[in-house]
Amino acid sequence: MTQTAAATSPDAVTRRETSWIWFDGRTCQYGDAKVGLLTHGLNYGTGVFEGIRAYWNAEREQLYTLRMPEHYDRMRVNARILQMELPLSTTELCVITNDLLRRNLYREDVYIRPLVFKSAEIIGVKLHDVPESFSICTAPMGDYVGTGGIRCLVSSWRRIDDTMAPARAKCTGIYVNSALAKSEALQAGFDEAILLTMDGHVSEGSAENIFIIRGGTIHTPPPADNILEGITRQAVMHLAREELGLDVVERSIDRSELYAADEVFLCGTGAQVAPVIDIDRRRIGDGEPGPLTLRIQDLYNAVVSGRNDKYAEWLSAVY
Ligand SMILES: Cc1ncc(COP(=O)(O)O)c(C=O)c1O
Repeated sequence: MTQTAAATSPDAVTRRETSWIWFDGRTCQYGDAKVGLLTHGLNYGTGVFEGIRAYWNAEREQLYTLRMPEHYDRMRVNARILQMELPLSTTELCVITNDLLRRNLYREDVYIRPLVFKSAEIIGVKLHDVPESFSICTAPMGDYVGTGGIRCLVSSWRRIDDTMAPARAKCTGIYVNSALAKSEALQAGFDEAILLTMDGHVSEGSAENIFIIRGGTIHTPPPADNILEGITRQAVMHLAREELGLDVVERSIDRSELYAADEVFLCGTGAQVAPVIDIDRRRIGDGEPGPLTLRIQDLYNAVVSGRNDKYAEWLSAVY
């Protein structure tokens, strides 16, 4: 069954409607949490969200959340950029999230979606003095993009610049930028979009950070190139340096360097480590996932599923 069919089948809908969520200070079922049509965040994109994964380890019968405190810490910083505050401490949010995962009896990989948004039902564009709501929803989740080698399009849409809106803030409204690029890529027959900055440097994928490998060194765009400062990006940089002994360089990357790279991969909470085998109909390397990319992917998969005890502190057990 395709992902879309699964998401719209009666079972998936029923399961979502009855799933336990957190909404404004209480646990309730998804179907009982309502927002009005005039909600500020819905009309003006005034929200900040996170995406956190939890991985099911069948052997240990255990669900592990991945770097959950880091996600809530980042969300707190991002919320302040939009003049919002998270209502609870990171520790409290982790406890609530674990409780939701347990109540929903997950025995599969899960995506966790915290959201803080301007919830007043008023007309008027501003940030200050608008009441906020906070929610946490969860849903089963498999691969977000293929992990066996994807084909990318350099988008005709440029990555939004920090002088226009805070690209690093994971702000809901800014995701129209990603949606335009992603649909352009999918509708042209590609798997994912890569966005350039206003001055033509490589920024990132529509929902992933990007790495290229040239001559055994890994390169990735710096935060000043309007990337989201990804938690997976940090993890990959750490694993590449510490476990594989590779040099990792943060620097601006030209578009044509994508084509010249030996290997390219995208990474993110949703995408995990996704090898790129083709960009703009140009084969990357020999058109297969690259050897270093595969080592990083293996390492990452082992860490997140609890099969590498050295990084046990990146995970927390739910059950
Ligand atoms: C635009 C964008 N860039 C990068 C990422 C990767 O960030 P992280 O690794 O923290 O999930 C995401 C994650 O969803 C994203 O939306």
